[in-house]
Amino acid sequence: MNNEQKTIVIGNWKMNPQTLGQAESLLSSIKKGVGETKNVEIVICPPYIYLPILMGASAFGQGYDGLAFGSQNCFWKQSGAFTGEISPEMLKKMGCQYVIIGHSERRQNLRETNKMISKKLKAALDAGLKPILCIGETEEQRKQGKTEEILSFQLRNVLSKISQLLTVHCSLFIVYEPIWAIGTNNPCNPKDAFKTKLFIEKVLTKLSKNGSWTISILYGGSIDSKNAKDYVDIGFNGLLVGNASLKPKEFVKIVKTIDKIR
Ligand code: PGA
Repeated sequence: MNNEQKTIVIGNWKMNPQTLGQAESLLSSIKKGVGETKNVEIVICPPYIYLPILMGASAFGQGYDGLAFGSQNCFWKQSGAFTGEISPEMLKKMGCQYVIIGHSERRQNLRETNKMISKKLKAALDAGLKPILCIGETEEQRKQGKTEEILSFQLRNVLSKISQLLTVHCSLFIVYEPIWAIGTNNPCNPKDAFKTKLFIEKVLTKLSKNGSWTISILYGGSIDSKNAKDYVDIGFNGLLVGNASLKPKEFVKIVKTIDKIR
């Protein structure tokens, strides 16, 4: 696991806001509010169509004042006849650094399977992007005591075929995002989340055979400025923030709180 890098705070804007003007003003409020950070890397993941414009407003799209950009998805091929898709290489060449892969909203609404997610992850690594892989269980699975079984299944099916690649590329972020905690104001309590983090690490050590992968484990699900610190204090390497990333004051508070931790 990677302890040396900065704590990462990712803003997943999902299918928001409604206009480019609103997106520009959201980004500008975040930049102004945050100023300079020492210990935090901020990653903003807006909808595809806003990405180049928002990145263009930053220094050559490569990030500005500790701020990087990510997309919320990508396809598993780099080019070709795939109507409506965007390739990892296109994103990379545009200056995008990160990509969220396997978010539960895509798994559920678009029937993304672990196999598809594994192919996307490989293509993202091949293109030189830093993938942010989401895993998590539903409320029902949790009630049935199946959390570990589900997470282990997701990790094995997504990662085992690309284990060689992961030994070479050192930037993979895994987000534990319990589905029941997303957008509900009902976050997984930090102690339970931490137990799950330890379990994820155990699975990853096994999968990597010699523990040679460098992976950061993040938490996501109803993060706000009051609870954000608890997850980083307990050992998570960062946070994936949905709703609160659309409220500039709240998001800035989250970043500033985390920046003070180290
Ligand atoms: P939330 O969303 O912070 O609104 O719960 C997190 C996510 O889905 O990434």
